[in-house]
Amino acid sequence: MSTTSTRSLISLCATSEVPEGGALKIERDDLTLAVFNLAGKFYVTDDACTHGPGSLSEGEIDGEIVECNFHNGAFHVPTGRVTAPPCMLPLRTYRVEIVDGQVCIDRQTAS
Ligand code: FES
Repeated sequence: MSTTSTRSLISLCATSEVPEGGALKIERDDLTLAVFNLAGKFYVTDDACTHGPGSLSEGEIDGEIVECNFHNGAFHVPTGRVTAPPCMLPLRTYRVEIVDGQVCIDRQTAS
């Protein structure tokens, strides 16, 4: 029996819309996401800081770290790991695929 792919890609934005070293906030369906361009590699995380009302797409990016502009908590963007308090909970990350110049995530990794 062949396996049928159940992947459902969600297109978020064009790669050209996210400046290198920057981030873009994207709202799709019930998701509010931050798309990061770190040295030409794209990552997608939840936009909301796990500590409070901070929007990580508006945070300070330094290498692979994003610092929340509310209380200076920080996360490692590729893994969502907390790198500075007061954040305690890791950030949700999404598997990214670039398709025809569009940053996409797999719907299966978005739930
Ligand atoms: S809301 Fe992000 S560190 Fe507090």
